Amino acid sequence: MTTWDYTTLAATYSLRPPYAPRAIDRIVGLAATAHPRAADIGAGTGHLTLDLLARGCRVDAVEPNAAMAEVGRSRTAEHDQVGWSAGTGEESGLPGFTYDLVTFGSSFNTTDRPAALRESARLLVDRGHLACLWNHRQLDDPLQFEIESLIRSRVPGYSYGLRREDQGPVIEKSGLFGEVTVIEEPILHEVAATDWLAAWRSHATLQRQAGPLFDDLVSEIERIALSLGQEVLDVPYLTVGWTARLLEGRP
Ligand SMILES: C[S@@+](CC[C@H](N)C(=O)[O-])C[C@H]1O[C@@H](n2cnc3c(N)ncnc32)[C@H](O)[C@@H]1O
Repeated sequence: MTTWDYTTLAATYSLRPPYAPRAIDRIVGLAATAHPRAADIGAGTGHLTLDLLARGCRVDAVEPNAAMAEVGRSRTAEHDQVGWSAGTGEESGLPGFTYDLVTFGSSFNTTDRPAALRESARLLVDRGHLACLWNHRQLDDPLQFEIESLIRSRVPGYSYGLRREDQGPVIEKSGLFGEVTVIEEPILHEVAATDWLAAWRSHATLQRQAGPLFDDLVSEIERIALSLGQEVLDVPYLTVGWTARLLEGRP
């Protein structure tokens, strides 16, 4: 069991927004081969895993939480270029010196990042690349602004924590990676209002900080969103990521 327990979030996690396709194109394009080997760490229900498979990657998906991995395995079942195993970013259990890409889809923040960077360096082939990325809801959109104001009024000091922080300094400080590059690509998530609201029930950061208030808060978010009377919502996100290349002289 890791510090971040996603067990109760697994059922609705797949409703969360996709990453911007251009962000994934850029990450996969870093590999100098048509069918890169990727270690997808903290693969969860397979969001990023599916994106990597769709672009020709051969993926080893690593996930510590059994409930999340079960959904991930089933969502990727029709692909023959994917394997799943239990492990963490700090101790993946994967073979060293093997992968063109090591990816963290919304999972780098759940790890001890310096340890995960050391483990990534062990996994990568020479000149291989690390990528970590998240989807950020655009908080200046009117609906999102209203929801954000509600959250902040109910959970004083609410913070997105590491998932909205600049990952450049910790990557550079490791001394293992260079060419740190930021990716920012927008994506408009057109989603059935009911699905988007169900996805709030898998919002780990809010759940952790709202504690016993979480269920009431999600009900209020539902009330705000449904008051618009729209069956489909346009929710703007920004996919934000960092890529970096393994320096020569691996540990
Ligand atoms: C926000 S989910 C992201 C899932 C998926 N990668 C995606 O892009 O949607 C974060 C995942 O990280 C996993 N996790 C928690 N602690 C971890 C650790 N120490 N190392 C790797 N993954 C971890 C959780 O179980 C969860 O499935």
